[in-house]
Amino acid sequence: MRVLVLTGAGVSAESGIPTFRGKGGYWRNLDPTKLATPETFERDPQLVWEWYRERRERICAAQPNAAHHAIAKLAQDAGEFLLVTQNVDDLHARAEWEGKRLSADQIVQIHGDIFVTRCSRCDFSYEGRGGSPEPPGGRLRPIAPNSDDHVNFLRCPKCDVLMRPGVVWFGEQLPWKEVQRVEDYLDRGPCDVVIVAGTTATFGYIIDWALRASSGGELIEVNPEETPLSRFATRLVREPAAIALPRIIGELLAERLGL
Ligand code: OAD
Repeated sequence: MRVLVLTGAGVSAESGIPTFRGKGGYWRNLDPTKLATPETFERDPQLVWEWYRERRERICAAQPNAAHHAIAKLAQDAGEFLLVTQNVDDLHARAEWEGKRLSADQIVQIHGDIFVTRCSRCDFSYEGRGGSPEPPGGRLRPIAPNSDDHVNFLRCPKCDVLMRPGVVWFGEQLPWKEVQRVEDYLDRGPCDVVIVAGTTATFGYIIDWALRASSGGELIEVNPEETPLSRFATRLVREPAAIALPRIIGELLAERLGL
């Protein structure tokens, strides 16, 4: 069975991570879709880093939910599998089924990784699960060494510009290597099953990939609300992902693979 799963913020909602456009998405009365922009970072990097620092902390404290674990099960049992997530958290990567996690080549984080801190200009980057940004072995220096700011601003050691979170912001290009991985998977042939869960599908590429992958196959949408993709779905499941996905995935594996 060849499978593509596309996920968005709704899949992590039941782990306590607020979605972008839903209730609880606002942070200090600010709209996340306006915070996650190059313009806001240029104007007020401290504000943007504070938001990401809080999100990092929240994600570190959160646990994968039944939806993440069910997707890990599907990844193990489907013959061919790719997960494309718009989520920058690591909950898919931490999810397990019978002690096994998805492998790195089964996951594409198309909007980046919140735990990466990278230079605003060059390709210098590092990973870390602590506050923002977290200097590796003191190689980076704070902007204001005597500052009491608890946000530790850092500059790139190579080009001296501000470090930023390794995520894709509104109006920015997607990481081409990751796009290429999705394209390569789609070029290898259509999928028997495409599951789109927990996303408003506001971006054209999400709809495009779902439709291309599912041509002739099943397109299942899991979302309590209608989205632009709903009218193309062969099956609509209007339930929270953590309830619907374990059941749907169990049914799919039983029907198609006799598992
Ligand atoms: P949104 O916040 O736009 O949408 C979350 C979706 O999840 C909505 O369609 C909800 O109906 C649905 N939802 C909420 N709770 C759910 C649950 N328990 N189970 C299933 N679905 C649920 O998040 P995304 O669509 O992921 O991009 O947003 C896409 C991108 O826009 C994000 O990656 C981010 C954002 O701005 C960038 O930052 C570039």
